[in-house]
Order: sequence, then C-alpha cells, then structure tokens
Amino acid sequence: MILNLCTVDFSTLHATTAAREKVNVKMSYRPAKEVHVQVTHSMPPQTIDILKSLEGWAEKNVLTLLKPVEKCWQPQDFLPEPDSEGFYDQIKEIRERTQDLSDEYFVVLVGDMITEEAVPTYQSILNSLDGIQDKTGVSLSPWAIWTRAWTAEENRHGDLLNKYLYLSGRVDMRKIEKTIQYLIGCGMDSKFENNPYFGFIYTSFQERATFISHGNTAKLAKELGDIKLAEICGTIAADEKRHETAYVKIVEKLFEIDPDTTILAFANMMRKKVSMPAELMYDGEDYNLFNHYSAVAQRLGVYTAKDYADILEFLVRRWKVDKLTDLSGEGRRAQDFVCGLAPRFRKLVERAQERAKQAPSIRFSWIFGRELQV
Ligand SMILES: [Fe+2]
Ligand SMILES: [Fe+2]
Repeated sequence: MILNLCTVDFSTLHATTAAREKVNVKMSYRPAKEVHVQVTHSMPPQTIDILKSLEGWAEKNVLTLLKPVEKCWQPQDFLPEPDSEGFYDQIKEIRERTQDLSDEYFVVLVGDMITEEAVPTYQSILNSLDGIQDKTGVSLSPWAIWTRAWTAEENRHGDLLNKYLYLSGRVDMRKIEKTIQYLIGCGMDSKFENNPYFGFIYTSFQERATFISHGNTAKLAKELGDIKLAEICGTIAADEKRHETAYVKIVEKLFEIDPDTTILAFANMMRKKVSMPAELMYDGEDYNLFNHYSAVAQRLGVYTAKDYADILEFLVRRWKVDKLTDLSGEGRRAQDFVCGLAPRFRKLVERAQERAKQAPSIRFSWIFGRELQV
C-alpha cells in the first residue's frame, strides 16, 4: 500500500512539473496581465458609409494637419553628431545637465518613452478599425494615409527620448529594452471593438493626455536645469497638440453628421474608462509596473487624475456635448452621463491624493532597482 502510494505520488509529481513547465513556456508569450473579454465589430454597418463619405473632408481637413517630412524635426537635431569632433564632450554635457534630475523624474520619462516606443501596437489597432483601415499597406484612402503618416511622426518621439536617456547614463537600458519588447508583445486592451468612433474619441483624449504629460516633463526639466531636455519634451508636446487637433476635429465632424452614434460612443468609451496605451507594460519583474509608474507620474504632477478630469471637461466643451439636440432617448441619457462625469472624476483627485500620503516604496528595475515611493 505504502509502495503504491509512493509510486502514484512520484508519477503525479513528474506529470505536474512537466505540465507546469509547458504552461510557463506558453504563458511567456501571453500578456502578463489578464485582459477583459473582447467585443468585435460592434459598429452599426451604416457608419462605414459615413466614414467613406468623409474621405474628401478628411483630405482637406485632416491630412493638412500633417507636417511634410522635409519640414519635420528629426531626433538627430537634438542629439550629439556622432561624426563631429565634439561628440564625446557633448555626451559629457548631457550627463552634467541630467545630474540634477531625480530618480522619480527618470522613472516618469522612461515610462513616457516606453509608451511612445510601443507605436507598432497603436498602428495595428488603428488598422483594425472598420471603415478606416489600411487594407493594403499602401492604401491611398485619406484615413490610411493619415494613420501611416501619424505613426511615422510618432515614431520619432520614442526614438529621441530613447537615445537621450541612453546617453544620460542614468537608467538601466537593458531593463527598459526588455519592457518595450514585453509591451509590444503584449499589445493593448483598447476596447475599441473595431469601431472608429471609439478609436477617434480615444485618440482625441490620449493625444491631449500626452500633450499635457510631455509639457510637464519639459517644465520640470527646465526647472531642474536641463534646457535641452526641456526643449525635447516641449517639441514632442507640440506634435501631440497637432495630433490632438486632428482627432478632435474628426470627432467634431462625427458629432455634426451622426450625433446619436457619436454621443453613444463617447459615453461607452467613458463607461469603460480610458485605459492608458501602455497599461500592459511589464519588465519581467513587476506585474504592477504601469500602476507604479503612473503613481510616480501622479506624485510628480506630470499626469494626474485632475488632468484626466480636465481633459474630459475640455472635450465635452469643445464638442459642445451639452448643446446637442435631435438625440434619441438613449442618446439623451448618454449626453447626461457624459456631461456629469467630470465632477465625479474630480473626486478621484482627492482619493489619489489620499493614496499618495500612505504610499509604499517600490523597486524600479529601470533605475537599477532603486526604490521610490509610489
Ligand atoms: Fe507621441
Ligand atoms: Fe501622440
């Protein structure tokens, strides 16, 4: 009997270990966090015709907000020239200028840079939106032209911040590179349901959020003595502002020609909460990395719950949501919900401040495992 039990135990243990290894290998290719059940293609079919009918309008009003490549800044404009005699001196200057920037500042800048570096994910998601996707990779539909050119403009952001952070010598580049690889591999839980109304409302929100956060990292860099970094963050913020203008204009147009679907989409996105693009970030160590990075951004005042409420209020005002008429009953309910949201979010500010007071310390791999209060 005892012998039998031993035999059974041994074989079960062996089988369990093998199964566990199999699961671990499988898991390493999957997002580090659980994502909600995905809804797909929820958009009413007639909205595809609406987006098609807007192509001429988009050509005149959206594509004109892109900057020709020849007039665009490039990361190299802000970085030491590798073939110049002063290359090493310029690197030394970067290291001197960044010495007064705190670990908190670097964690926030690294998190912002990683978010920018995941731009392949954002392009894939935009191309999953019904009615606006780039069907061939070289489509001449204005929506597809916009998405490719927007991605190309955005690509410079992560590139520039990445190189500057590398040259500063203040951060653990290998850990950061791992985080970028994990994040792109994990994707983004956009909750867009292939619906461009959701997508454009989200990008309006998100471009304004990045405009605010890059603007704040610029302000802080200036205060702490790195004028060059302030210029870099300010220049990136200016791009975000131009992108915000484009997306806000698109949604404004959707409100004009299809108010009911648009207000329902706005309310739907807000109910689901605007999750941040890099929410699934993981460095191989901290499963709560995004929350920890956001807490430092909140503490430093780079991007806060108050900003979230301000953006929502701004968009409600900009799209004149309270003045919409000719809505269905459901549309009117959505309108009331959206208009009443900002004050509710304001309460989040108080709660976030409360949390900040009793915050624990967390190790950040990006700054060589040093601890920060989050
Ligand atoms: Fe960006
Ligand atoms: Fe952007």
